Amino acid sequence: MTQAPKKLHIKTYGCQMNVYDSERMAEAMAPEGYVLTEDPAEADLVLLNTCHIREKAAEKVYSDLGRLRPLKEAKPDLKIGVAGCVAQAEGEEIMRRMPLVDLVVGSQSYHHLPGMVRAADRGEHPVETEFPVEDRFTLLPERPAPSRPTAFLTVQEGCDKFCAFCVVPYTRGAEMSRPVDRILAEARKLVSKGVREITLLGQNVNGYHGQAQDGETWGLGRLSRALAEIDGLDRIRYTTSHPNDMSDDLIAAHAEEPKLMPYLHLPVQSGSDRILKLMNRHHTAEFYLRLIERIRAARPDIMLSSDFIAGFPGETEQDHRDTLALIGAVGYGMAYSFKYSPRPGTPAAGRDQVDAETADRRLHEIQDLITRQQRAAQESMVGREVGVLFEKPGRLPGQWVGKSDYLQAVHVEAPEDMRGRIARVRIAASAPNSLAGALV
Ligand code: SAH
Ligand code: SF4
Ligand code: F3S
Repeated sequence: MTQAPKKLHIKTYGCQMNVYDSERMAEAMAPEGYVLTEDPAEADLVLLNTCHIREKAAEKVYSDLGRLRPLKEAKPDLKIGVAGCVAQAEGEEIMRRMPLVDLVVGSQSYHHLPGMVRAADRGEHPVETEFPVEDRFTLLPERPAPSRPTAFLTVQEGCDKFCAFCVVPYTRGAEMSRPVDRILAEARKLVSKGVREITLLGQNVNGYHGQAQDGETWGLGRLSRALAEIDGLDRIRYTTSHPNDMSDDLIAAHAEEPKLMPYLHLPVQSGSDRILKLMNRHHTAEFYLRLIERIRAARPDIMLSSDFIAGFPGETEQDHRDTLALIGAVGYGMAYSFKYSPRPGTPAAGRDQVDAETADRRLHEIQDLITRQQRAAQESMVGREVGVLFEKPGRLPGQWVGKSDYLQAVHVEAPEDMRGRIARVRIAASAPNSLAGALV
């Protein structure tokens, strides 16, 4: 007699690495008889894969847990787990604050999840927030066929940089690079299942230094070149990079390897040397601008993006103007900006804070400038021809949506099934967040 499948609902917060991890958690639970559901109300197990990066993200988890309370009351067998970076950072504290939580599993312990769920089913309340020494991904079951032609692949995890504002070194641990052969094997498997674009993930992905079977340590440039040799893999991306880890070899790979896509997320956080120093970023604005010049010399059409923090402790009006000047000097295709959020245990949290009103105003000024640059970048695509990997049907009949080489959403009309196909598109119209064109 076979049992009816149990249902698992996963809610994912935060960065792409959590998206990747959520997929791996679903895979880890599949042999236990769990299938995914979009609807928490029909789930037997709800996992919140959480983010600790800013206060709002972390607090959202608690309000979402509060919203699960009626479900749990109606269905006492429902198990609720907190995973991810809040779990890693707060551990047992979560259960003290929210007794309805049955298990807490930190971002480094997902290979223990099936055993923990079994323990929870026995009425225990397991908490697991150790940092293991082994590659946690090799202990998870094999990945099933992805339904999209794009996939994430974690190659590096953790961070040793300790920027003064950031919790990631505490939630993801020390920098760790997966061995080359495991990455190549995972990539080949993804490609054999129809994936054509892989985004390599890491908190400091360009600091990748993995052991290869030739006994050498490979950087991300060399890894990208090896991945590019896989037949059927047509596009390679990577995120997120740190300016100090942008090696000559990786820059050269952008010039030489057409499969390496012309889009780079290279966060700088601030344009003021004084603030960069207070942030512990270990480089100047000038260094960053020269780096961008070298990257553009290698790949002139590259689209750049970044992250910025407004209102970091000690930031003056002049520092803020330096940030606006840097944004003006670079010219981004897009960028993210955040109001500084003091995080427990980080050095900057204890410093003199910029008042909220000033920080809000500065954030808006940064966002205005970035929005204008993004519009200009989108408009500059009109009349150009660009490669697009199609991912899914659009909202209108006959419409298909994909991503350009520069990671922009592109719509076309096509009579045939375009899913998983790469085609040249001539762009005819631009909107702030998407482009429209016709197949060439
Ligand atoms: N490893 C990546 C991503 C870190 S988190 C990197 O180094 O870029 C993503 C972004 O969140 C950061 O780039 C930063 O801009 C922002 N961020 C991190 N901590 C923050 C905080 N305490 N307050 C506001 N923004 C923060
Ligand atoms: Fe955080 Fe800095 Fe590490 Fe990025 S490099 S994860 S911002 S500490
Ligand atoms: Fe958030 Fe953890 Fe990613 S804190 S941004 S989910 S590494």
